Amino acid sequence: MDTMTDRTPHAKDQTKQELTPNTSGSWASIVKSLVIPRPIAWISTRSASGVDNLSPHSYFTMVSSDPAIIQFVSTGVKDTLRNVLETREFVVNHTPMELFEKINATGTDYPPEISEFDAAGLTREPSRTVAAPRVAESPASMECVLHGEPLGVGNGYVVFGEVRHVAVRPHALGERGPDARRLDPIARLGHDEWAGLGDIRSIRRIPYDSIKHPVDGDPT
Ligand SMILES: Cc1cc2nc3c(=O)[nH]c(=O)nc-3n(C[C@H](O)[C@H](O)[C@H](O)COP(=O)(O)O)c2cc1C
Repeated sequence: MDTMTDRTPHAKDQTKQELTPNTSGSWASIVKSLVIPRPIAWISTRSASGVDNLSPHSYFTMVSSDPAIIQFVSTGVKDTLRNVLETREFVVNHTPMELFEKINATGTDYPPEISEFDAAGLTREPSRTVAAPRVAESPASMECVLHGEPLGVGNGYVVFGEVRHVAVRPHALGERGPDARRLDPIARLGHDEWAGLGDIRSIRRIPYDSIKHPVDGDPT
């Protein structure tokens, strides 16, 4: 169901249900359903033996702006993490809505000798600074080198990558650079749900100075 009523149930008078790790069902699934929407890093790597791997990772964000460092998390040890440890490089490809099924198809647990590029019918495009190929169908890619060593946290490994090169299709660029509407990214929600961008709004950050010393004539 997707009605306005479903979207506006946030009445303050509703008593919240209190959940704890002992609540029946998967605690991780409950938490994952609240950490939404999550952008998806579509990560391409090349193994030391030359197999091109591609897989989606939605535990993904930016951690440093100078230098530009992003991070993804491998839950357990998978081909992507193994390849990054072998080669110290990877590429994060953007995930447009139009590639929804293909992105999902690269999340299948293929054995390391099978390339998800071939399994999902995607095209390799040479990267400029790393050996791992970019996804030609993706509108934008970030070429990264491993920063430091992956950090073990719980059952995950946080992998940091310094972005050294970016390639963007001109169609995905607006006046101020990469443009959200043109990139049309898809995001992960809870369970098996995914989402597009929906509403986009702009608002300016409010400097504290303008609150402390309102400009003459501003309403108080
Ligand atoms: C949209 C989506 C997001 C995913 N996010 C993650 C993630 O953040 N971390 C992870 O370890 N696996 C994640 N997975 C599962 C991996 O993609 C899956 O285990 C894949 O087989 C790993 O491939 P690899 O062994 O080639 O690295 C995700 C799957 C999908 C479809």
